[in-house]
Amino acid sequence: MTDSSVDLVSQVTVLRAAADAARVNAWAPYSKFPVGAALESADGRVYAGCNVENASYPAGTCAERVALGTAVAAGARQFVRIVITSTQQEPTPPCGICRQALVEFAPSLEVYAVAPDGRTARWSLAELLPAPFTPASLENV
Ligand code: THU
Repeated sequence: MTDSSVDLVSQVTVLRAAADAARVNAWAPYSKFPVGAALESADGRVYAGCNVENASYPAGTCAERVALGTAVAAGARQFVRIVITSTQQEPTPPCGICRQALVEFAPSLEVYAVAPDGRTARWSLAELLPAPFTPASLENV
């Protein structure tokens, strides 16, 4: 492996650990589908989130958007990658609403989903959300 691919593997490992730690705190009594996410900002900081469900089901929030909100509240606005972990056998990709939320800040985001056995899927956000609606879409209103 090249030096940069070693760096990437270790960075994904760090983010996976942060996502797993947040997932332990997931509030998912209705779906029983705990999710963790860890978002890395352009300056190397890590912001984690878990899903937070609600007895009023639509009030629940995904792990990715909790991580994003935590990051933005701390002043971060540029992001390079996100790692998502769940307890499912297959890597869990982000839902459509989370793809939209993330593209606002990070159109070039790298998205990783890691299964408990370490199997990892990787996509670009552009691949997951082609033809996005972005702040530029609102120009000339
Ligand atoms: N969930 C996430 O946290 N992230 C996703 O990208 C997919 C879905 C949560 C929402 C809900 O709490 C549970 O997983 C089942 O949909």
